[in-house]
Amino acid sequence: MNNSVPRQKITTTSIHIMALDGIVNVNSLFTFAVFLGLAWNPTDPNYSLIDTTTTCAASLAVAEDLVSFHVYSFSSFLFSSLVASGLKQAIRTAKQQIGDTAEVRSVPSAHVNTKLLRVGILASAAGSALGCVFLMLALIDLVQIKLGTLSCWSWYSLAAVCPLEKNQPINLLSYPSAWNHLSFPSKPPPKLLKIALFVKKWPNRYQAGGLERHALTLHLALAKRGHELHIFTTTSSNSSFPRYPMSNLYFHLSKPTAAGYLDQALVWKQFQTQNSTRKPFDVIHTESVGLLHTRSRKLSNLAVTWHGIAYEAIHTDIIQELLRTPEEAQAYALTERAVKIVEEVKFFPSYAHHVATSDHSGDVLKRIYMIPEERVHVILNGVDEEIFKPDVAKGKDFKQKLGILESRSLVLGMAGRLVKDKGHPIMFEALKQMFLENSTFQGSVIVLVAGDGPWGARYKDLGTNLLVLGPLDQAQLATFYNAIDIFVNPTLRAQGLDHTLLEAMLSSKPVMATRVASITGSVIIGPQVGYTFSPTIASLKKALYGVWEDGRGVLQKKGQVARERSLELFTATKMAAAYERLFLCISNDRENSNDYCRYQPSSGENRDPHYM
Ligand SMILES: *[C@@H]1O[C@H](CO)[C@@H](O)[C@H](O)[C@H]1NC(C)=O
Ligand SMILES: *[C@@H]1O[C@H](CO)[C@@H](O)[C@H](O)[C@H]1NC(C)=O
Ligand SMILES: *[C@@H]1O[C@H](CO)[C@@H](O)[C@H](O)[C@H]1NC(C)=O
Repeated sequence: MNNSVPRQKITTTSIHIMALDGIVNVNSLFTFAVFLGLAWNPTDPNYSLIDTTTTCAASLAVAEDLVSFHVYSFSSFLFSSLVASGLKQAIRTAKQQIGDTAEVRSVPSAHVNTKLLRVGILASAAGSALGCVFLMLALIDLVQIKLGTLSCWSWYSLAAVCPLEKNQPINLLSYPSAWNHLSFPSKPPPKLLKIALFVKKWPNRYQAGGLERHALTLHLALAKRGHELHIFTTTSSNSSFPRYPMSNLYFHLSKPTAAGYLDQALVWKQFQTQNSTRKPFDVIHTESVGLLHTRSRKLSNLAVTWHGIAYEAIHTDIIQELLRTPEEAQAYALTERAVKIVEEVKFFPSYAHHVATSDHSGDVLKRIYMIPEERVHVILNGVDEEIFKPDVAKGKDFKQKLGILESRSLVLGMAGRLVKDKGHPIMFEALKQMFLENSTFQGSVIVLVAGDGPWGARYKDLGTNLLVLGPLDQAQLATFYNAIDIFVNPTLRAQGLDHTLLEAMLSSKPVMATRVASITGSVIIGPQVGYTFSPTIASLKKALYGVWEDGRGVLQKKGQVARERSLELFTATKMAAAYERLFLCISNDRENSNDYCRYQPSSGENRDPHYM
């Protein structure tokens, strides 16, 4: 008998058993780990490292995938372990039979069907490998839940998934999301710019509308940062023009045309004079069509900020038409609007760079207006975070002065011009119906209305539940936000991005507004920060009852999330920093502008990106 054959058998059998033991041990470890993973609740926002209110937060589908992959992984490992255990048992049984019949050996040896053994081990190995693959897929989902989805340019998650890609600079000009999501160093500016601004009207007071508010907040902030600002705007001879204590802020005034626009020939002459004195302008900014497209052609260092484009306004027209009473004549804006959109699509490309004030209008500019994506940049509006901030004591004082009793469990607030466009007719009707049909609601709700306009007087008809405060200055308005439980904006205008919502959020208040794309896409992106409704009386009533039923506790929680989100995105500082970087990037500084157009995402603690 050949001695080498049994020895080989001895070794292979023990190796088989050792290998199977190894598989079973490692698999049990993984199975246990995967089981623990399943016990963890991925949809709980507390487990996410990122702000779950951002659009980057992983969807529920990712969480579902995570669980499925865990289950697949679990079953694969279990399958592998069972096959391995089965094989081991088979070998042991064979061994026992040998032990019964033959002499006892020091090293166990057994005769097993080798083909079956090979197939078994292969199946077991395949099970383990599959388990590992599913585990890896589950881990990728886990990273997405923790750090934001891969598809939305979240640098932190990309860096975690592919360590090699870490810290790759990105091209700001084609950055698809709002620049507000990025962080720019606060001071000092790397270079002082000479900036020209064209704006139809410069506000005298703070109660100005969206476009003028934006012009004021942004350019005063830029001047404070040391840039040289030349503002080309109109003034009527009899109104006093505001003065500012800044030596780097220049106003070039002219008489408006009959239609109230800038006199293009005149302001262009003023601009040329300034362009040829001392040094030429680094960058030109126009609020909407302050500078007409006929003049903006060929200027590569120009940016236009749109505060409402015709495509967005068509939603407004539809709402207005649906709310029209039979006595009112049909608004003919609706039929005109399509023509207006086509006109805009034709002339918008004459502006080199476009700033959209909401994510939705950025999308429309790229998709419908067909402007190349590297010329469309989203910079959301910001409001002064030094003025609008939480102050509970001031809020209480304000309520006391108005004689609002603590028994009033819900204080609703509205502010702005009290006109039809801002949705006051539907708000009036909804409140009227609710006060009539539900006495408990009437007994517990107070509505504070700041601002003036025709609906101010009408609201007084609703009785003592409504307090019309008249127009408030900025400091009073900041206190007003602190006195309310929730801010309601029933606006019927779909274009632009409303400032009052941002002010209320910075004051740590939840917000409630009409479901228009700019608001749902950039501001009230989910129930974490507030409520939305369709511009119908039924939908508004439903939302108001919902707010009331949720109560103060829930509202305060939402207010906190609103405050965090607005500090991240909606501060004047953030807006000014983003514009400054855009202006540096598109300025005529050939040598350096490329560097300003690159954004260096930073890793870990140091979130301050640096210029390349
Ligand atoms: C001044 O402006 C107002 C409108 O703001 C206008 O009605 C008035 O006629 C203007 N002229 C004078 C001299 O007040
Ligand atoms: C401003 O002046 C610079 C330098 O003279 C010139 O290159 C540029 O074309 C001028 N800009 C406009 C819009 O005329
Ligand atoms: C008022 O509304 C609340 C909540 O919708 C409801 O529970 C209550 O019964 C209503 N009260 C009256 C008087 O209709």
